[in-house]
Amino acid sequence: MRRICGAMVILTFCRASFELAAEPYPGNEQFSRRAAAEGMVLLKNENRALPLQEGDRVAIFGSGQVDFVRGGLGSGDVTVAYATNLLQAAFAARAEGRLQLDTALAQWYLANPAVELTDGQLAEVRQRSDVALFVLSRNSHEGDDRSPGEGDYQLAPAERRLLERLAKAGFRKVIAVLNVGGIVDTNWIDEYRIDAVLFAGLPGMEGGPAVMDVLLGLVNPSGKLTDSWAVSLAAYPGADGFAASDDHVDYTEDIFVGYRYFATFDPARRLIRYPFGHGLSYTEFVLDDWSAAEEDGAIAVEVTVRNCGGLPGREVVQLYFAAPSGRLGRPALELAAFAKTKLLAPGEAEKIPLRFPVAQMAAYDDQGHSGHRHCRLLEAGDYRIYLGSSSWDAAARQIYCHRRESLAVTEQLTGYLAPKELPERLLADGTMEQLPVQPPPPPPCLPVRPDDCTRVEAEDYAALTGGSWLEYFYRPSGESGCCVAGWPDAGRKMIYRLEVAEGGRYLLRLRGANGNAEPIADALEIAVNGRLQNVTVASPATPGQWHEFIDLEPVEIELPAGRVELQLTTKGYCPNLDYFLIAPTAYREKLLACAGWPVAASGVRRQAQERGGRPVMFAELRQKPELLDEFVAQLSDEDLIWLVGGHEPNVWGGTGTIGGLEAFGVPALETFDGPAGVRLGRGLTTTQWPNSTLLASSWDVALVEAVGAAVAKEAKYNGVDLWLAPGMNIHRFPLCGRNFEYYSEDPLLTGKIAAAMVRGVQRHGIGVTLKHLAANNREKNRLRADSRLSGRAAREIYLRGFEIAVKEAEPWCIMSSYNLLNGVETAENDELLTGILRGEWDFTGVVMTDWGNNSRHDREIKAGNDIKMPAGVPDCLRAALAEGRLARPELERSAKRILTLILKTGKE
Ligand code: BGC
Repeated sequence: MRRICGAMVILTFCRASFELAAEPYPGNEQFSRRAAAEGMVLLKNENRALPLQEGDRVAIFGSGQVDFVRGGLGSGDVTVAYATNLLQAAFAARAEGRLQLDTALAQWYLANPAVELTDGQLAEVRQRSDVALFVLSRNSHEGDDRSPGEGDYQLAPAERRLLERLAKAGFRKVIAVLNVGGIVDTNWIDEYRIDAVLFAGLPGMEGGPAVMDVLLGLVNPSGKLTDSWAVSLAAYPGADGFAASDDHVDYTEDIFVGYRYFATFDPARRLIRYPFGHGLSYTEFVLDDWSAAEEDGAIAVEVTVRNCGGLPGREVVQLYFAAPSGRLGRPALELAAFAKTKLLAPGEAEKIPLRFPVAQMAAYDDQGHSGHRHCRLLEAGDYRIYLGSSSWDAAARQIYCHRRESLAVTEQLTGYLAPKELPERLLADGTMEQLPVQPPPPPPCLPVRPDDCTRVEAEDYAALTGGSWLEYFYRPSGESGCCVAGWPDAGRKMIYRLEVAEGGRYLLRLRGANGNAEPIADALEIAVNGRLQNVTVASPATPGQWHEFIDLEPVEIELPAGRVELQLTTKGYCPNLDYFLIAPTAYREKLLACAGWPVAASGVRRQAQERGGRPVMFAELRQKPELLDEFVAQLSDEDLIWLVGGHEPNVWGGTGTIGGLEAFGVPALETFDGPAGVRLGRGLTTTQWPNSTLLASSWDVALVEAVGAAVAKEAKYNGVDLWLAPGMNIHRFPLCGRNFEYYSEDPLLTGKIAAAMVRGVQRHGIGVTLKHLAANNREKNRLRADSRLSGRAAREIYLRGFEIAVKEAEPWCIMSSYNLLNGVETAENDELLTGILRGEWDFTGVVMTDWGNNSRHDREIKAGNDIKMPAGVPDCLRAALAEGRLARPELERSAKRILTLILKTGKE
């Protein structure tokens, strides 16, 4: 079958051509170089191996210098006009007279990036050079996780052999550049006596020059790790459960994620190689003259940072706290605040103020152990405040103690998002707490009417296997929808659970389209409760048409009364399936006459008639937003259904539009991907920024805000409106394939960086979409896997970053995630989207689904997920309205939020 792929979602649309216009905003590419360099982290620097000195004769090793990775893949990629790899940057530095480069070796790598050097070649290189620079490159992408094995988390055998030989060759210094999106094994750094190591992340299109800037000392590194780099994967608390099950992940480590775990359970620091917040500089800083006090319910600290080295540089000051482990048990260290100095000249000092509310140290009691169930609270005891330039450095410098004589409840919340199937969780004393487990409710069955025709949407399956998926489509008519499709292999199964009131002979009529020039004589096998039915399903040709569905000939099957499993299995080439109809054989005529859901007419321009036929147009609404209720009331149900689904993009590589209700002059907002820049396609080139983790490693909120502003200007410049970024899930485990799109293992850092990004972007009239809410921490089986976590872990870790960004920066949109959260699809999760997001955090914007998720459109609207992307499923909403499962005011509620979003952008 032919498919057009957009990101990892299969999206089919018919559009002849788009105008080619995109380009980077002037100056952005150079800014991306600076932003990348600001995030780079100097992990190790023995004997001042870096920066490179005049006289260093440098030989660069490793295919990564040529196959340099500028950014991660999937929707997080960016189409660029060019990208400068490390080797090109080294040649440029050489041309400027800044670097003595072994050009013969460089030429050899250009021609043979993947071939191993012979001993003779290496000996010659050693003769010519005295500094070896090794480049390790790794990439990852959405839709799949990274591998723990060789060539990904571990070195590849060839890389190991090369490093072994470099160690023996007697270079004066060996330096490694880690061009990686996330954590890799680092045991080889000591094993092969590497002198200096630079974490360069995936630094974007100007990544090569940015790395050279740092290696040459033109930029003094000031980045700090946003994650704990442990000695092995097994050391991480999430290691056991990460890939153990296909369909769920138990977050048994609870709140002990990243350094919270290591600081609590590994005080001797045997498990960590590079701690959270760590990062060296080419100069030296001292922190002195600190003072701390309590003012208006906040801890206020002031510290002087002095550059006592010989080069200008910047330092990040980090404030942590350790709360008393009362009844709730607390991590030994939690980040409270941070700030970065300006560029300090040698000898220069800067006073840095840091402040955070005392209430920020509260924990959430999900089980009522403190006597205050579902509250955030501060237990009695000593709250120690630590100051330093990394988590380890700070742990040795307590500067203040906030003492509480009694427990104080800081917030009464709810018990939303309680786990149902998480059996246990880790406590601060190292024991496991057993949690109540509720068996999942039996899977829902679709009722089959004994006296009428029943319509079953293809997407209402109970299970899909063997390469079938949900496909969203747009038709030239503007109609959108969702069907079940798959690769043309035999053996794909679609399983439906039915509740049959009366057993007997039934007719089954599929509605499909196969795009084929030839009819398919025998497309599907049908089994009922495992019993094969004696039928032949023929699928007529629909040449080139994959989503213009036709009704196939009905076939007769036997359905027993009660719960029934209906299984459709492909025999080879097979149609996409929109829905099927079932009716007792006596209702044959009705079945043959049964067409789609009637187009609802209610509310059609009602008020327009009252206003003498003149509707309120969007232009008028823009002038008078108080007309919103009136505007929405005049819309027909069909208009509302149009608004709550995405539509075809108007730009290549765009991810779909929102709005575009032409009859009322509602403009269409163009959504576009991120988070590494303005992602367009087909030659529409824009700026690629450093990946999210690298950007966050700058710990520089002003820089991130400026990057946000630059992205927004570029979006405006290219006529796109709504950014599907920032990505802000927690780095729970190093192998998550999407960690490169996210910031950190720490929720406070994540939230503050995301908030800065939101402020920068939205200030320029471009909207953001925080994603993916929530607990999207694994890519394997991402559409069906359930993240099982406690209410406490949800509130203290996985939702906390989103909460900070929502409260501090008011993002216009949020994207729900693919995964389930405690057994419920996040897009259908009323407790998450309405209870917490809107009820507790006062979020007033729009929630959209992730692209081609697995949940049902009507349930999404009810739960507070306002728009289904990339396309809505109108039939599903029509049916829900007709059957009373969805009420018009629920659609109106989402429509109002969407219209308000469009108003905010100022789009004409
Ligand atoms: C990703 C989203 C992305 C969307 C649109 C999905 O596959 O999960 O993060 O924004 O595609 O491309």
